[in-house]
Amino acid sequence: MHKANRFRRESMCGIVGFLGKKRKTTFLIDKLNLLEYRGYDSAGYAELSEGKIYYSKKVGRIINLKESINEDSEITCAIAHTRWATHGKVTETNSHPHLSKTEEWAIVHNGIIENYEVLKKNLKFSPKSDTDTAVIAERLEELNINTIEDFIKSFDDVSGSFGLAAICKTKKNTIFLGKRKSPLFISQNKEGDFLIASDPICFKDFGTDYYCFEDNEFAEVNENGLTFYNSNLNIIKKRKARLDSLFKSYGKNGYSTFMMKEIFDESEALKNQVAYYKSQKIFEPLNKEFLESFNKVKLIGCGTAYHASEIGAKYFQKILNIDASAEYASEFIYNEPLLDNNKTLFIFVSQSGETADTLGALKIAKKLNSTCICLTNVMYSSLARLGDIVLPVAAGVEVAVASTKAYTCQLSALYMLASHLGNIKNRRNINYFDEIIKLSDKVLKFDKEQLNKLSSFLKDCNECIFIGKDLDFITAKEASLKLKETTYINSSSYPSGELKHGYLALIEEGTRVFAIACEKKLNIKTINSVKEAAARGADVTILTNDEGLKNEENVIYFSEENEFLLPILSIAPIQYLSCKTSLLKGINPDQPRNLAKSVTVE
Ligand code: M6R
Repeated sequence: MHKANRFRRESMCGIVGFLGKKRKTTFLIDKLNLLEYRGYDSAGYAELSEGKIYYSKKVGRIINLKESINEDSEITCAIAHTRWATHGKVTETNSHPHLSKTEEWAIVHNGIIENYEVLKKNLKFSPKSDTDTAVIAERLEELNINTIEDFIKSFDDVSGSFGLAAICKTKKNTIFLGKRKSPLFISQNKEGDFLIASDPICFKDFGTDYYCFEDNEFAEVNENGLTFYNSNLNIIKKRKARLDSLFKSYGKNGYSTFMMKEIFDESEALKNQVAYYKSQKIFEPLNKEFLESFNKVKLIGCGTAYHASEIGAKYFQKILNIDASAEYASEFIYNEPLLDNNKTLFIFVSQSGETADTLGALKIAKKLNSTCICLTNVMYSSLARLGDIVLPVAAGVEVAVASTKAYTCQLSALYMLASHLGNIKNRRNINYFDEIIKLSDKVLKFDKEQLNKLSSFLKDCNECIFIGKDLDFITAKEASLKLKETTYINSSSYPSGELKHGYLALIEEGTRVFAIACEKKLNIKTINSVKEAAARGADVTILTNDEGLKNEENVIYFSEENEFLLPILSIAPIQYLSCKTSLLKGINPDQPRNLAKSVTVE
């Protein structure tokens, strides 16, 4: 195993902590449940009571942890954690909290301590767990950390990232906290109790506002209150942020999965986004002067957000006639950009705003002195805080690992942005707000029965292919990703014109082909490819706005004249189909195997 991979085991975890008047221990565990969506494979908690640390750790679901705890037990000071492993064994020993040798300290940690092996060499006692976090727990004991100042100083020679919470058996009702690169938040409710979390979603039904830790900030929270420090040991004053009202709608709303609920949120989400952009006059600062400040646009993202970036690049090319391209964040960070001036506008797209690769790319662009727009669904995310201009994707909380409503809202935001700038450049007045509102009424109008039927065939498929041209090819890529991650069916995506250059060799009787043919000028080309595949026995489904094909069997038809908006209409049925097929296969599409919602490591 590579060293880097060993670090990665501790990376996309969830943290919660509580300090306050007596509460049922299950209160904290229920908060941990709100972080389930991030993906995890073990969970644990530790509490401080009468000068002793009590803890429990369990491999598997949070319910295993909950069942290990006496349901009447109560806490006043406790921390808990979900751990998501990518490599190495999922064991109780490797689960958090990690305790020091004499169980003086317990810590939960999200992030990567990059120099943990060096730090470990200096320890007298070698922790049983081979994780980086265990080293930090042991160090706190061996360094005789007593005060918050000692605690902060102990991180001077620690490199890497952390969001962490620590309790010590000699520090009654006290939690020490620290943050570098990994997210950490704290909220105080009106009763004066504190809740700590790695995602403010946990503050739902607790407080109305919260503090967000910035890099290299630390805090001590105890019965006397909360004090923040910087790494120079100075006390700092921080401003509170209001809790996003969108959290109020968090829940499955009667759907069996978050993914299905989020698909059916799409119409509303698109409308909400328009209302938000209008009321907040989001585009007002993006005036003629701004337009003239760049001559190139580079859009950057990962996974689904990369596909949104690719479509966004097409919008900029086609609407503004400007050189625009998209790049995977993970590729961009390792390719020295060939930019000889700062006239490149960067647009970073990320649902979570915490994707490590995207953040890494943003940091490079900032060094180039380029203007960086960040398009994100999470306004308290690192990306939102680091961008020069933040465009909100007002999709509401997206819980399912498979991104759905965030994607359609990303496309709508990018379309509105390009159209707004196009209006300035081309001295026209296209009402993109109205266009999106009209579109939002159509987005869920696909024939569910037709797709339910299709999913019953698809569930037994081993392989399928999505084809399209230009914008439709990008939709094909996103469709293929969605199907793959939710059904584990091996699917590929190809430009339709490429079939005959190789992939056709794989087409045989019964091969499933999905053709996206929504661009009027190019439909005929994709339909030709469909014919080539059908002639070789493929079962083809066509998604199209071609009226001529409207009544044909195996056609999913959309009536929409604006070709830029068709990628929003054509992806929604595939999202639905993927979710249905996933459920038929007995897979939980909210948490596909091996995937996490927010990929906070490179
Ligand atoms: O939070 P981000 O948008 O930055 O996440 C990027 C990708 O990890 C994400 O889109 C991933 O591909 C999804 N699972 C796709 O459904």
